[in-house]
Amino acid sequence: MSKSNEPILNKLFKNSNTFIEEAIQTNREEFIKVVESRRSVRIFNDSKVDEQDMLKCLELSLLSANSSNLQSWEFYWVRDIDKKKQLIDYCLGQPAATTAQELVVCVARPDNWKLNTNLMLNLFKEKELPEAVSTYYKKIVPLAYNQGLFGLFGLLKKISTFFIGLKRPIPREPVSFNDMKIWAQKTTALACQTLMLGLRAFGYDSCPMEGIDSYKIKKLLKLPKKAQICMVISVGKRAKNGVYGKRFRLNKDRFIKIV
Ligand SMILES: Cc1cc2nc3c(=O)[nH]c(=O)nc-3n(C[C@H](O)[C@H](O)[C@H](O)COP(=O)(O)O)c2cc1C
Repeated sequence: MSKSNEPILNKLFKNSNTFIEEAIQTNREEFIKVVESRRSVRIFNDSKVDEQDMLKCLELSLLSANSSNLQSWEFYWVRDIDKKKQLIDYCLGQPAATTAQELVVCVARPDNWKLNTNLMLNLFKEKELPEAVSTYYKKIVPLAYNQGLFGLFGLLKKISTFFIGLKRPIPREPVSFNDMKIWAQKTTALACQTLMLGLRAFGYDSCPMEGIDSYKIKKLLKLPKKAQICMVISVGKRAKNGVYGKRFRLNKDRFIKIV
């Protein structure tokens, strides 16, 4: 492939990268144990969650893969007693919330892409990074995530991608604020999973909840209209009868397609 025909991301990164990070050895048995023993726990016992453990698990979740490294997530660990009471009510009084030791509201922020882009660009000033990285945030990111006033730029992108897409592969989304919601939710959900697996690895249990009143939770946390509640995660240690039943899944052939 001639250099001028090379995909833009290859041009930006592949050719100029000199950074080396070796893959460290990990323990697959321990990972399997963590994944297999994570269950949605609906009843927690009275054991407290160590504050440092909780903070570490939250910090680890920030290492999750995320789109364009724009970190379109926020995690509100609700510790204030009155707010927590309200939050339990807004989790519809589910046992997973009423018995939880701790509650974390996981929020997707599709509206923060520009702010985080600027924060990233400021951060780059202190780091020695290839020019390509700042070019990506200055040129590609605004093109990809800006939807413009009343979504008009998004609409324009949708039309032009349709025509360009007749000739070559091109990213089709996000081209609306709804797409941006999906964009931010994907990233936030990945961090939610890291949080739950992290908690399990630290000896705790969790339950993700979307049976919640997202509107009231947004009000409680004084979040802007465009913020999206991804889920609330309850945390603690499982009570003896905390798991509702043996885990089962549909046949894996329905989901894993080798094509
Ligand atoms: C996005 C999401 C929302 C969920 N919402 C609730 C909920 O509101 N209440 C609840 O008890 N469980 C909830 N769950 C837990 C699922 O019911 C549970 O993950 C599923 O039954 C599989 O069980 P397991 O997590 O133990 O493997 C939710 C899970 C996810 C991923």
